[in-house]
Amino acid sequence: MSHAEADHDSRRSRQWLAGEARGAGVDRDRLLELGAAMAALTAAADEREPVAVAPAPVGVDPGTPIAKPLPPDLLRPLDTNAEMRWTALAGQGYVVPNDRFFVRNHTVTPRLDADTWRLRLFGTGLRGAPTRDAPVEFGLDELRRLPAEESTALLECAGNGRRYFAEQQDDPAPGVAWGLGGVGVARWRGVRLGTVLRLAGLRDDAVDVMPEGLDPDYVTGGVNLGRVRRPLPIAQALDDVLLAYEMNGEPLPADHGFPVRVVVPGWIGISSIKWVGPVEVSTTPLFSPWNTRFYRMFGPGHPAEGTVLGAQPVKSAFELAWDARVPAGADLLLHGRSWSGNGPIEHVEVDTGDGWRPADLVAVDRGGPWQRWTARWRPPAPGRYTLRARATDTTGATQPDRARPNTLAYLFDAVVHHPITAR
Ligand code: MTE
Repeated sequence: MSHAEADHDSRRSRQWLAGEARGAGVDRDRLLELGAAMAALTAAADEREPVAVAPAPVGVDPGTPIAKPLPPDLLRPLDTNAEMRWTALAGQGYVVPNDRFFVRNHTVTPRLDADTWRLRLFGTGLRGAPTRDAPVEFGLDELRRLPAEESTALLECAGNGRRYFAEQQDDPAPGVAWGLGGVGVARWRGVRLGTVLRLAGLRDDAVDVMPEGLDPDYVTGGVNLGRVRRPLPIAQALDDVLLAYEMNGEPLPADHGFPVRVVVPGWIGISSIKWVGPVEVSTTPLFSPWNTRFYRMFGPGHPAEGTVLGAQPVKSAFELAWDARVPAGADLLLHGRSWSGNGPIEHVEVDTGDGWRPADLVAVDRGGPWQRWTARWRPPAPGRYTLRARATDTTGATQPDRARPNTLAYLFDAVVHHPITAR
């Protein structure tokens, strides 16, 4: 999450807590939603990151929440999700190929028909205030005829690294047990959301934009929270946000949002709504459980209403299997990548058992959304070793030895202890 997102969220939280949204003419449905979100905050201590599967809609096989094959050497299934195996990046280029890009599904991948699909914009933030039932519509061909842009952007789940809260720190970590594979960089191509908003008749006093996914409603604890959706402030929506229809030069794969998804560079992954259909544009603040209930920090040290997730913290990973086997006494070139939501990576250090030393950064990556690096190592004798990598970004933020625990176990940033055996 960028600082802009953090600012927006804390402003909205303050308005929400102060009851300002009510005064601003929020309708009954939205008040009910706010009430539900408020009730959820009190229950937040028992909350888990969304993992439950909603009842399957027609045409969706509940046995296969993910459409693409999940070869065990590329992806590890986790409930309705799949994380990339870091070994799958060995020998690859800068971007993560589509066949091994992680999948984060609240429910299941819907199989949508591009010919009948429509982007449907509505709300008070558009001229004439079109309604949800009579929206301003765009088909896929119309979007493709608009000026296209390409963006190489990183997507990361806020829960990436969660399992190390429990495994390394003994802190409870409910929710999807991601290792470090809930992240990826791809080349996205599409039309700017801002271009489409303006064509749809954006008003000057619009404040929020909320894209909704066409995947099944998300049901948790017996409560239907509706479609996956999360508001964006208008300034962000008019910035570098894409309505993407291509990923790494191919039509968007089903699991990654076919036919069109939102891509919000630098923001936590939940903002990049897949399978986008309806888009509400509003002159009053918008809320959803995905910014009031989930994707907030709860627990000791945080207020009852939780704290906005800050920027994605700094992380590093080796392109190696967990507990990899390597030959003792032979020269190895270790490969890895580091990234940060604050900005580019400045330097990376590696420890193979005898202290920290600088890794060599791949020069062409400087300034990009992640940074590849290498380090030489000769395991001196057969035995078990621990590899560690620690990166620092251009703001000076680095990786601590221990991540700060929080109830929903988001934003794990500590140095990961990667076991390896030489023999
Ligand atoms: N959009 C919809 N409609 N439904 C979802 O479940 N998951 C979000 C986001 N967009 C989600 C969604 C989350 S939490 C993440 S991290 C990213 O999509 C993951 O994108 P990917 O599956 O293409 O890697």
